[in-house]
Amino acid sequence: MSDSQPAPDGVDLDKPNAARIYDWLLGGTANWAIDREFGAKAVETFPLAPILARTNREFLGRGVHHLASLGVEQFLDLGSGVPTVGNVHEVADRVNPRSRCVYVDVEPVAVAHAKVLLERHGDPERHAVVQGDLRDVEKIWERALDTGVLDPAKPIALILVAVLHFIATEDRPHDVVGRYRDLLPAGSYLLSSHGTEDGTPRDEAAKRAELREQYNQSGNIVHLRSRTEFGRFFTGFELVEPGLVWLPEWHLDELPSPASEALTSNPAESCGLGALGRKP
Ligand SMILES: C[S@@+](CC[C@H](N)C(=O)[O-])C[C@H]1O[C@@H](n2cnc3c(N)ncnc32)[C@H](O)[C@@H]1O
Repeated sequence: MSDSQPAPDGVDLDKPNAARIYDWLLGGTANWAIDREFGAKAVETFPLAPILARTNREFLGRGVHHLASLGVEQFLDLGSGVPTVGNVHEVADRVNPRSRCVYVDVEPVAVAHAKVLLERHGDPERHAVVQGDLRDVEKIWERALDTGVLDPAKPIALILVAVLHFIATEDRPHDVVGRYRDLLPAGSYLLSSHGTEDGTPRDEAAKRAELREQYNQSGNIVHLRSRTEFGRFFTGFELVEPGLVWLPEWHLDELPSPASEALTSNPAESCGLGALGRKP
């Protein structure tokens, strides 16, 4: 994004932002100087940061591909981010051109970019984007259904990838996910990934703590959780093989995943756990 161009309405350029930093780490262009400066500092502190962003994005792609291959046609992607390589509706459409997807993000720049992308390349009957805070469960659910894209009588894949670690414990993230679970029809799925410090080698702990502190100072507070805490998000879901694993361990053969393949000998280096669960 050229810094001489005006930012979309509601975009705060005084602070770096998680959606735009992630976009920069993935090699995207929906970011501003303030985000790139933050990103460059993060990479200096923790050179693996771009690999971790790609590892997560690859997990998302494999998860959606897997779900579409299982016959799931509807996707509700919460905390969808700035559209970049491997968007959910594109991955799903390649498997099933009838697939449907609603994107939700709280960040105006993510929503503005998603709107432009969908206006140019989407199908208004099958794709939509909503700006909102996923913590407002019933309101988000209602607005997602109001788009007319999703049929609440048929299974929906709820995607919460790399977003739950931005929800503070005092905002009761497990409760939030449980309320979505109760709204989803039987046969629906939850696909999620989450940052963790489990398995951090001792000599890296200081660097990771520094990176987290940098994020916290930018206003994007990161709440890393343990394997057990992440697993609790899947209460009421049946885990699909291979269960709850490090991101590079999840169905690596599903789609080409170069960043994840580079971490197979030490998957804990991905700092991320992922899983897919099915609501019986
Ligand atoms: C790291 S990005 C992940 C993007 C995408 N899910 C992926 O994994 O490639 C996290 C996204 O979550 C969004 N986000 C953070 N808190 C949110 C909230 N309370 N409600 C909705 N979106 C949120 C951020 O704006 C950002 O776009």
